[in-house]
Formats: sequence, structure tokens, C-alpha cells
Amino acid sequence: MKKCSILPPFIAHRGLSRRAPENTLAAFRAAHAAGARWIEFDVQLAACGTAIIMHDATLARTSNGQGTVASHPYTYLATLDAGSWFDVKFKDEKIPRFIDVLNLMRELQLCANIEIKPPAGAESITVKQVLADLRTWQAQGETPDIIISSFSLPVLLAVKALAPDLPLGGLFETVPADWQGLCQTLNCVSLHMRADKLTAENIATFLSEERLLLAYTVNEVAEAKKLLALGVDAVFTDCVDRML
Ligand code: G3P
Ligand code: MG
Repeated sequence: MKKCSILPPFIAHRGLSRRAPENTLAAFRAAHAAGARWIEFDVQLAACGTAIIMHDATLARTSNGQGTVASHPYTYLATLDAGSWFDVKFKDEKIPRFIDVLNLMRELQLCANIEIKPPAGAESITVKQVLADLRTWQAQGETPDIIISSFSLPVLLAVKALAPDLPLGGLFETVPADWQGLCQTLNCVSLHMRADKLTAENIATFLSEERLLLAYTVNEVAEAKKLLALGVDAVFTDCVDRML
């Protein structure tokens, strides 16, 4: 994917996560219903090796489970309520598997930024499972666009080595001094930066190469307008309905 590809200005961060429990099928369906064409979500592995969608390494904030995601098999995670913490009307929401979300993306023609979020030490095994699920999905027919990103450099390097055809995004909380070299090594199609670290000056620098510039996480319309006017290609937002 190059700069000229169509990327809308708003990406639904963890789905429409202001109105539905983040990283659930309900949140992704709500984002689509609100008009979003791109979503973002976080992938990690259950103890059995199944790739699942959850932001935190631990279960307590966004489900009724306890302990870490990585210490439970999916057979246990699948029994948890991933919606009531947000609102009891979502009590039937489950922790989705990655493959469930890929299938929903095909059904709804939703594109996605797939953020790989393994605990330290699980980078390689997580990338391999994410790629296996992606290849299964791709083998079943036409697929919506994706960008794979991660805060983890080992993850990005593993994706580049094992699947150089897949578009990669460099995701940085703090911009490394050698970000340009890093992006060249990884052949990144995009840079994903913390919105509050962006200035008119560094935006101009980041845009000096043919890469998309994405900013996370922006929930105020005025801030989104300002960043987009400065040249940012898209912002991740929890309230895509308000932005649109
Ligand atoms: O990928 C953008 C953003 O999701 C990164 O931060 O912590 O919300 O996953 P986080
Ligand atoms: Mg994320």
C-alpha cells in the first residue's frame, strides 16, 4: 500500500469503543454501522496458541476473567463475558478469536490495522500464528486491506522476514532516533505516532518520505481537524461516530 491508496481520515480504535466494549465483534459492527471503513484491534495469544483480540495482557479490565490472557486456553477465554464491564446490554459479547474478526472484516468489507501485542518472549510464536490465520483467510478469497503494526521491533522484523508482502506500519510511542533507517529496513507503508507528540515541524519531517502518517488516539474533533490539516493521513479514534 502506497501513499496514494485510499485510507479514510478516521480509524475506529478497538472498534467504536466509546459506544460498545472495545475489541469485541459488537464494537467492530458498531464502527461499521457508524460509517467506519477501517478498524484497529490488538492481537495476542491464548495459552493454547489461538490468536485472540484483547488490548490488555490481563483479563480483569475488559472481561469477568482473572489472570493473564497467556495463561488460559481459548476454551476458557471463550466462556468469559467481555461486555458487561462496559454495559450489561453487552453481556453476551465474547473475547473474539482473530479469525472471527477476519471473517467479520470480509463480511462487512472492513479494512484493519492489526496491532500485534505479545508479552515479552512470545513475539515469534505470536507472529507465526497471526500469519497462519491471515494466510488461511487470504486463501478463502478477496480480502479487505490490512496494515500490520506493533510497538515491538522483534515483531515487526519477524513479519518482514516471514511475510514481506504484507504492509507494515511502524508504531512508536517515542520516536527512535533512527526511525528513518528503521522504516527503510522494515519497508513500512505507514508511521503510527502518538498524537500528543506530533507538531507541525515533526509532521513535516515524517511526511517527507512516501509513507502514511497515522496518529493515535484522538477523540476531540478540533484536535483531529488540526492534525488532518497539518497533513496527518488518518487518526485513530474511539468515537468514529462523532468524527464522521
Ligand atoms: O495502534 C494504535 C494504538 O492502538 C496503540 O496503542 O495501547 O491503544 O494499543 P494502544
Ligand atoms: Mg492498539
